[in-house]
Amino acid sequence: MKNKKITRKITQGMYVLTTKDGGCMVDAVSQISAGDNPFIAVAVMKSNHTNALLQKNDKFALSILGMDINPEIIETFGMHSMRDVDKFANVKTTEFENIKVIEDALGYMVCKIVDKIDADTHTLFIGKLIEADVLKEGEAMSYNYYQENKNDLIKVKTEQGKTAWICTVCGYVYYGEELPDDFKCPLCGVDKELFKKKEEEE
Ligand SMILES: Cc1cc2nc3c(=O)[nH]c(=O)nc-3n(C[C@H](O)[C@H](O)[C@H](O)COP(=O)(O)O)c2cc1C
Repeated sequence: MKNKKITRKITQGMYVLTTKDGGCMVDAVSQISAGDNPFIAVAVMKSNHTNALLQKNDKFALSILGMDINPEIIETFGMHSMRDVDKFANVKTTEFENIKVIEDALGYMVCKIVDKIDADTHTLFIGKLIEADVLKEGEAMSYNYYQENKNDLIKVKTEQGKTAWICTVCGYVYYGEELPDDFKCPLCGVDKELFKKKEEEE
């Protein structure tokens, strides 16, 4: 493949996907039908705890993040697993249809799961929109903007004096002089080529 980076030009947004008992950051969201209750598809990695929750829950919500979003929300939902931390402990949420949504989001969409499709590393969950609202006006953050600006948005903390490799997709930190040959990110599954060696602190 000559340059996979071009896939970032597929316009995607920044969303917090929530369901009962958990949730995670997603960008792989698409409206796939029209009408009053359109179908919305979201691709969730099989290794994510959220995937396991969506296999047993019947609904999910998507909170649409704006340019003014506190980057800590992206970090909390996108770089940690609900297996290890309570992501809702320090984030203000409100509830719609019994699902927590991010209070500071531009708005939300609640979907009832109508289908699940196996998609290699991910499951594609298809939901029928049953509730939605605008919470405030503002410009939505694009995934491309996040990728271009994440070093300023999110400062990944690493232990001093150790060589660290940071996953440029999800922020996972690997400590060691070199990454093992067949290494894949244990959090988001990408290949080692997408890891960047941490520059020395200024
Ligand atoms: C900006 C951003 C976008 C992401 N997009 C997706 C996505 O579309 N699908 C997905 O499964 N994971 C995505 N992730 C990764 C998950 O949010 C991440 O693996 C999370 O820690 C999973 O948490 P969980 O184990 O509690 O489900 C994204 C992460 C970030 C930071």
